[in-house]
Parts: sequence; C-alpha cells; structure tokens
Amino acid sequence: MPSSPPKFLARLTRLSVMPRNILTAVAWPYANGPRHIGHVAGFGVPSDIFSRYQRMAGSNVLMVSGTDEHGTPIQVQADREGVSARELADRYNRVIAEDLQGLGLTYDLFTRTTTRNHYAVVQELFRALHQNGYVTERSQLSAIDAATGRGLPDRYVEGTCPICGYDGARGDQCDNCGNQLDPKDLINPRSKIDGKPPKFVESAQFFLELPAFAEALGSWLQTREGWRPNVLKFSTNLLDDLRPRAISRDLDWGVPIPLPGWSDREDKRLYVWFDAVIGYLSASVEWARRTGNPDAWRGFWQGGEGDSYYFMGKDNVVFHSVIWPAILLGASGQPAGSPGAYGVLDLPSEVVSSEYLTMEGKKFSSSRSVVIYVRDVLERYGADALRYYLAAAGPESSDTDFTWEQFVTRNNTELVAGWGNLVNRTLSLVAKNVGSIPAAGELTGADVAALQASRAAFAPIGDLLGRNSQKAALHEAMKVVSEANKYLSDQAPWKLKDDPARRESVLHVALQLIDDAKTLLTPFLPASSQAVYAMLGGQGEWSGQPELREVEDLDGGPSYPVLMGDYKTAAVWDSRPITAGIEIAPPTPLFAKLDPSVVDEELARLDPGE
Ligand code: MF3
Ligand code: ZN
Repeated sequence: MPSSPPKFLARLTRLSVMPRNILTAVAWPYANGPRHIGHVAGFGVPSDIFSRYQRMAGSNVLMVSGTDEHGTPIQVQADREGVSARELADRYNRVIAEDLQGLGLTYDLFTRTTTRNHYAVVQELFRALHQNGYVTERSQLSAIDAATGRGLPDRYVEGTCPICGYDGARGDQCDNCGNQLDPKDLINPRSKIDGKPPKFVESAQFFLELPAFAEALGSWLQTREGWRPNVLKFSTNLLDDLRPRAISRDLDWGVPIPLPGWSDREDKRLYVWFDAVIGYLSASVEWARRTGNPDAWRGFWQGGEGDSYYFMGKDNVVFHSVIWPAILLGASGQPAGSPGAYGVLDLPSEVVSSEYLTMEGKKFSSSRSVVIYVRDVLERYGADALRYYLAAAGPESSDTDFTWEQFVTRNNTELVAGWGNLVNRTLSLVAKNVGSIPAAGELTGADVAALQASRAAFAPIGDLLGRNSQKAALHEAMKVVSEANKYLSDQAPWKLKDDPARRESVLHVALQLIDDAKTLLTPFLPASSQAVYAMLGGQGEWSGQPELREVEDLDGGPSYPVLMGDYKTAAVWDSRPITAGIEIAPPTPLFAKLDPSVVDEELARLDPGE
C-alpha cells in the first residue's frame, strides 16, 4: 500500500473529474448612462472574479450579458437628452462596453437587447408560454402619464405601500417590506417623471400566470444549497403572494408581441424585464452562433449538464428567482404543455445577489452627483485598485459604504506596502545579486513550512471562491502575502552577503511564494498578476482580458460593438514550480501609492456645492 493513500486518491479524483460547464449570467446594465461603481460592485466585479477562478480551476465557463436597452428607463433618459431611444441606446451601449472592458470583465459575449437574434429568442419564448397557456390576455388598469399619454411602467410610479405603509414604494415592488405590488394598489400614486398623479386607463395586456408555477418554484427553491441566506429567504417569501403579472406595456419602444393582430401595433411592446432576462439565453445562442458551433449553448442550458450562477444587486432578485424561473418552466412545458423550440431549459443553480453600496453615507445618484464613474476611477487609479477595493470591502452580504479614505488606505497599506512591496524588494534583490531565478540548495524547516503553507492555500481559497465567499477568499490570499513578507524579513537575505548559497535558497523560496501569491490573486487582480507573471519570465498571456470588437448583426441588423475574448490562457489554479535560470530584470512598481490629499480632491468632486 502506498504510504499516503489520501493524497494519491485526491489527485486521482481531481484528474478524472470531467470539466463542468458553468454559465455565469451577469445582470444587464440599462443603456441609460455610464456605469458608476455602485453598479459594478453588484454585478460586475463579483461575476468576473468567479468566472476567472472557474476557468483557472478547469471549468468551461460561458459568461454572458449585454446592455438592457428597452423600456422606460431608456425612454425617459432619451427624452432628457433630446434624442431617440435608439440613439440613446447606441450611445450608452458603447460607453458601457468600454467601462466594462476597462475593468477587465471577461465576458465571453457582452451584447445588447436590440439585436435581431435577441428579438427572435424573446418572441419564441413568448410563443411557447402562450401556447402552453401560461401567458394570457387580460384587461387591467394601467398608469399613463397624464401629460404625454405615454404608459408609465411600474418603476415610474411611486406612492405609499398598501401593505406596510412605507412612502417610497414603487409600482412593482416595495423595497421596505419586499412585497410585489401593482401601480394601482399604491396609495397616493405619483409619477416619478413629474411628481404628478398618473391617470389609470383600462388596457389589454398579456400576463404571465405566475400562480401556475408556485408549486414547481417552491420545490425548486427547497432544493437550493449554498445560496446566501438573505436571498433564499427573500425568494421563498415571494412565493406566498404570487399573482399574474403583466408582461406587456403601452409603449412603442421594445420587442413587438408576436401574435396576429398584435405584432404590427405601434403602441404595445413586451415589458422590458420580460425581454431582458431572456437575454441570458439569447446571448448564449448568439455566442454559439458567433463561435461557429450553433448548438454549443445547449451544454449550458439543457439536461443538467451545467451549473448556472446569476450575479446582480438585490433589487433584481425577484426577477431572477421567481419570474425568470417561471418563464423557463413555462416555455419548457412545465408543469404542463410541451417544450418550445429551445427545448427543456434548466433553472438557475444559484442567484448570487449582493447588497447595496452607498457612497460616503449616501445613496448613489447621478442626478445629485453622489456618484463616481467607473471610467474616472480607472483613469486615475487603474482597474486593479478598484477591483481590490470592491472585492475586499464591497457589499457582498450586507450594505456597505464606499469611502475615499478607505480606498486610499487599502491601496497604500494592502496593495502597495503589502503585495507590491513583497514583489519589489524580492525581485530587486534577485536582479542585483543573481540576475536570474536562483536554484534552491538544501531547505531549512522554515523554508519547507513556508512553501507548504502557500501550496496548501489553493484548496481552501478555491473552495471559498467556488461558493462566492469572495471577501474571505481575498482575505486568505492576502494572508499568504503577509506570510511571505514575514518569511523574507525573518530570513533577511540582505544580511547573507557572506553566504551566497543560503541567500540564493532564500530568494528561490521567496520567488516561489510570490509566484503562488500571484496565482491566488489572479481572479481579483488580473492585470497586476499578468505583470508579475511576465517579471518572473512568463511568456504570453497569463490571464486574458476582454476585447472590444465591432461585429455585424447575425441576421442583417446594424453592426454593433461587443466584448469577447480568448480566455484559454496559461493561468491554472495550482502552485507551479518556478524554473531556476530564468532571467530576472529589476522590477517596475505594481501599484502607485496615493497621496492622502486624494481623499479631499475626490470629496470635492463628489459634491462641488458643499
Ligand atoms: N437593467 C436591469 C437593472 O439595471 C437589470 C436587468 S438584469 C436582466 O436593474 F438580466 F434581467 F436583464
Ligand atoms: Zn411595503
């Protein structure tokens, strides 16, 4: 018998496990303005950390999203800017794609909801639901803007919640008690556009028959494991009050209703939330068509061959844990009926929702300039500094406040003085004294312990990342950095002038610890990990970055920009032995130290009036 069967068995199991297909489904940002850091804290950075880790661990990842371009959020902003909805969507689709590219978010496809492919997939799902009897026509009182006569979607009607009495309830939902509402239920309803009471008129709409799915949704939620407790509890509570929900609107901007007598009406469109969630499927189909294997989306959506993780801020939960699963069930012919053209579709494995980020104690608001745009942070401080802050101090499982003070402190103590300094002082010593990665001589107990601890960090940190405990994972990875700094200080290679052999062993060990740490930090800090990889002699791409490409619409519509990328790069989630003899040049700094005056400068920008 081998003396260490557990290790041997563990390796065997790891090799024989088939790679999992993982769908990373990222909430679709409205194309109504540039992204601010509140947006990307919720859906952006966490979904990318997860996807990068999963790829390194050997999974087949498909990460999709795009801009959400229909409905009132777009129409209202278009009116404000004096352009058409289409022009507005074109403008901000491009701006947002650039913001997300700058942050290094590795979408396999970031597209938009105005493609012909998206329209076709949305209409197909609608038809399947309609044929199975889960979408029906009903008449309802709809809110319209008294001045313009335009339909006022739910989120643009505010008033007092009839259930808990909260005064800031929205037409679709009360954020105070979490109940789903209808605009006509609100007490003292008012339009968010002009503050005036809306008019209510009888109007024919299509409804999704949510009560028909109550049982199926209940048993699905009961089998969910590993969800954040808040999200599961909130979702389960929603099932107590399921009512048919309108999925069409009196509006001229959106996906037409694909039924005879409706498809050519200029005043009726599908509700933006109905078309947007279907984007996860349509983007997967578009990705498959673009990569030359039109059926490739199936492995992520059918037959339980894959797992799917949906990333968003908490105000999106109801749409992903109730409405989207109901659409998937109904279009698959469940609980009754027959599957539509896309067959039987899998329900989400997990809805990963974050909480809210506030800004220096206030709610983000572009109009009140309580805002900090992604592109400004990227330009001034770089992507990794922002990614680090959001991963270390973001709203993972409770509401959190962004402060510039904390941003500067974390940047200077953790990135610059912690990780950057470890790389800098070690590589400077190596470049000056050896010029290449030295070989290790005989190892001491301290050397072996340091190497073992760093190698042993991969499994638990990987486990945390697989469960989206990203704060804890980053904390553990930074512990590896601290331990390496401590090793270097304890061994003090700069004092070993008279013992070059020992000095080389110490530097070898320190370089191995750095190499491990850069791997552990790659999901969080892809750009600086790439830089460390190159400084240690690595060739080519370690961790891929998204590309902005101009593509033709696959079905004859206008061309548009997408984010795509080749993410099959060198990065692997494991400790890899460094190779002695590789040349090491004097290092360049990984991160810039920020002067404390940055805090006041940024606070002045935030609220110039104060
Ligand atoms: N546009 C929505 C928002 O910003 C999110 C849509 S997520 C989707 O709140 F997947 F449903 F599109
Ligand atoms: Zn309420």
